[in-house]
Amino acid sequence: MDLLFQVRVLAGQLEVDNNKYAIMRDLRTIILAAGKGTRMNSDIPKVLHTVCGKPIIQYVLDRVQAVGSLKTYVILGHQSNVVQAHLPKDVLVLNQIKLLGTADAVKHAEKYLKSYLGDVLILCGDTPLLNKSVIKSLIRRHRKTNAFCTFLTAVVHDPHGYGRIIRDEKGSVVAIREDKEAIGFERNIAEINVGVYCFKCRELFTWLKEVKSNQRNSEFYLTDIIELFTENGLKVETIETEDPSEGLGINTREDLASAEAILRLRTLKEMMVQGVTIIDPKTTYIDSEVKIGKDTIIRPFTFIENDVRIGNRCVIGPFSRLRQGTRIGHGVEVGNFTEVVRSKIGDKTLMKHFSYLGDVSVGTNVNIGAGTVVANFDGKEKHPSKISDYAFIGSDSVLIAPFKIGKKAVIGAGSVVTKGKNIPDGRLAFGVPARVISKEENK
Ligand code: UD1
Ligand code: CA
Repeated sequence: MDLLFQVRVLAGQLEVDNNKYAIMRDLRTIILAAGKGTRMNSDIPKVLHTVCGKPIIQYVLDRVQAVGSLKTYVILGHQSNVVQAHLPKDVLVLNQIKLLGTADAVKHAEKYLKSYLGDVLILCGDTPLLNKSVIKSLIRRHRKTNAFCTFLTAVVHDPHGYGRIIRDEKGSVVAIREDKEAIGFERNIAEINVGVYCFKCRELFTWLKEVKSNQRNSEFYLTDIIELFTENGLKVETIETEDPSEGLGINTREDLASAEAILRLRTLKEMMVQGVTIIDPKTTYIDSEVKIGKDTIIRPFTFIENDVRIGNRCVIGPFSRLRQGTRIGHGVEVGNFTEVVRSKIGDKTLMKHFSYLGDVSVGTNVNIGAGTVVANFDGKEKHPSKISDYAFIGSDSVLIAPFKIGKKAVIGAGSVVTKGKNIPDGRLAFGVPARVISKEENK
């Protein structure tokens, strides 16, 4: 540890982790997300497009939070109000009015970081696949080597579109050459700039002033600062991702589809490690925030979206779609051609064939017969309903919300339970509209 470092640790500015050099407490982060995303050909700002159910920029924000950044500045420009509405309140949004390039974008944070002596992490808002560990390694290396800038590289099959890493004969970084500027052998360089940098704050802003606008498009490239550093003897370090797919930047719809496929597989693998059986990963679509318990089996052609939670020992699918707000207990079966949204299903309940549940709380040990449909929307509003423990819903029933079906109540096949109906505990109801059968009639 150098002396300045030790002084700063003692001053409580920094915090040392187990590896003795990862210092997270004074980390600040700038996320660049002002760009138009022209290549997406979209009316929606690029960073709000979703990958596995979550906006691209949210992945970047989650990573930043996970590495312990103390303050995050997000640079917005194109449709900034729309993007800002999706950001957490604790990030500081800075508006880049004219999109003059990534160096110009970073300059917008300067006045907020004037008296700050620590390190600044800079990420692009369009790289959702980065892992926390690679960012942590980058920060560690930056601090261990006392570099002025450390940035992340990846060796990829197709470097098209990315900045290439130019190195000298000793292997030291000389510059980053943007795709549009790369000529001759530079175009074949497979090592690319991922767009994640850790800078010493003071030097960053000192040298940003020296970055010249590009002659071809008048943009100021942040990546040009690397050549300025190396020419002026300021140490630049790099680390390479182990998994090159981590560095994927989303510029086009094709990139979006690639990110979706990579992340989906990552999520499925993680679930399998945790004890979930995925019969056919190729036809199983599970969003990144979904949680599934041990020994649950997911059959093919199943979509599980957003924030769905599923307990242990369930069987889901084939051809099932579980949507946001769905909470499924243990030992539940949700079979083929079924859809569930904003509903809770209690332990050991069975819903095995073509049914729809919306805004309903279903108890334990309930049987939902084939073809049961909850009509939760009356054209204006969605209404919540309840099906209590041990109820039995006969096949082909339509249940019009709001309704309540009592414990151990039975609904005869083909019934229509009308709006506002309350079927008492233990009673039988059937017909169109469903009528509660008196105890005498039911003898
Ligand atoms: C950038 C890098 C490139 C790297 C690649 C990694 C530059 C000049 N190039 O290229 O070396 O390989 O990312 O994915 O940095 N942005 C602003 N304001 C601007 C322009 C851009 O905030 O004026 C933001 C964008 O919203 C985006 C990020 O900066 O989130 C990168 O911009 P983008 O246009 O996607 O750069 P790339 O061509 O991908
Ligand atoms: Ca990009």
